[in-house]
Amino acid sequence: MKKGKNSFVCQECGYKSIKWLGQCSSCGAWNSFASTSELSGPLSQPKSIDEITGAREERLPSSIGELDRVLGGGLVPGSLILVGGDPGIGKSTLLLQVAGGMTSNGPVLYVSGEESLGQLKLRAQRLNISGGVLKALSLTDLGALDQILQELQPGMVIIDSIQTMSFPHIDSMPGSVSQIREVGSYFLRYSKENDVPVFLVGHVTKDGSLAGPKILEHLVDCVLYFEGDQHYSFRILRSIKNRFGSVNEVGVFRMENAGLLEVANPSSIFIEERPKQAPGSAIFPSMEGSRPIMVEVQALLSPTTFGQPQRMTAGVDHRRVSMLMAVLEKRAGLEIGWQDVYVNVAGGIRLSEPAADLAMFAAMSSSFLEKPIPDDVILCGEIGLTGELRGVPRLGERLREAEKMGLSRALLPARARVETGMEVVPLASVQELIQYLFVE
Ligand code: TYD
Ligand code: MG
Repeated sequence: MKKGKNSFVCQECGYKSIKWLGQCSSCGAWNSFASTSELSGPLSQPKSIDEITGAREERLPSSIGELDRVLGGGLVPGSLILVGGDPGIGKSTLLLQVAGGMTSNGPVLYVSGEESLGQLKLRAQRLNISGGVLKALSLTDLGALDQILQELQPGMVIIDSIQTMSFPHIDSMPGSVSQIREVGSYFLRYSKENDVPVFLVGHVTKDGSLAGPKILEHLVDCVLYFEGDQHYSFRILRSIKNRFGSVNEVGVFRMENAGLLEVANPSSIFIEERPKQAPGSAIFPSMEGSRPIMVEVQALLSPTTFGQPQRMTAGVDHRRVSMLMAVLEKRAGLEIGWQDVYVNVAGGIRLSEPAADLAMFAAMSSSFLEKPIPDDVILCGEIGLTGELRGVPRLGERLREAEKMGLSRALLPARARVETGMEVVPLASVQELIQYLFVE
């Protein structure tokens, strides 16, 4: 019989494997594997969904609740997970903590192509990781790693980073397109055939995308980004792609002296340092994946003293801010043309929802008019070019979280329908917003 890729298949659930398995690692059925060459007819016939039996989704808890949440409820055995992020953001720290906390699935192999074993040891000491099932390796040659994997049969593998690994038989540099493609496919095959989770660390380029060919993102099961501002201690882990869960799910951490700590209540953290009664500050109930988080949007407008007006934004799209500035001028009649404009999201969070328009707009007008927005107010709504306010999704969840945080007034688009214990202030346009907040 000719053996090839995926030459055995579970007749219960259709799970494919390169080797014969006594028990299917997908559905758990025993003696269900048959060689694809022995099978004819039935498998290639389409089945009705109800006829497909035995599909089962197993999850391994990772000891880090925020990571499990981002992955959709734990690690799926046999999944390939790419973790991207800027250098120094904490990818190695996170994964070493994951490796140190894993106990359930056999030995964990941490392969570092960037650091020596001595450096890894120092980091492990700092993170209080000792004993356990963690095995570390400093190596970049995948030919050699293949041997080790065969012998060790680890229950989880971490590769830090994919850009440092290479196959000697491929005639190009580590980190090159052909190396990354091969290394990626190797671990894809490895994870599926051995049914173990594999993490790949990937660096990002200056423009914020993962270095290496796009093919890597298509290849893997999950793409997670580790984000945050170097100057803040907050770190956000976000899923960009997930074959086993929803995307844009976030986990929130804080980088401390002894590693990453999970932040159980992000809302309180992101608004806790908010100054009271200061013009230019507004609270927006942001949806980060399935989780509502209160964030503070800040704006500072001050007359331009020299040359061209400055525009600077952090955490929001500068084109969106330009559009809102045009609406401010044209629809609300505030003459901000010769103002320097700075917009910032506190804590290093990034906002991409149009629903944040209203909070940005209010923060800018508040700063310009030098009148604060009351402390108990949240703002949520999209702003159109005529100055009209448009509805936003999932208001119920946002307002429940806001209420929990002790906020009591919600400024919302007039047509929004939501059941809440908060006082709702319906607004049809930006003019009504200015009137309500700043004109007695
Ligand atoms: P690291 O995990 O090496 O980042 P990456 O792998 O993404 O490049 O994190 C490095 C930064 O984290 C470094 O600036 C030091 C800081 N750090 C802490 O603050 N506390 C810690 O316990 C550790 C291990 C690192
Ligand atoms: Mg690193």
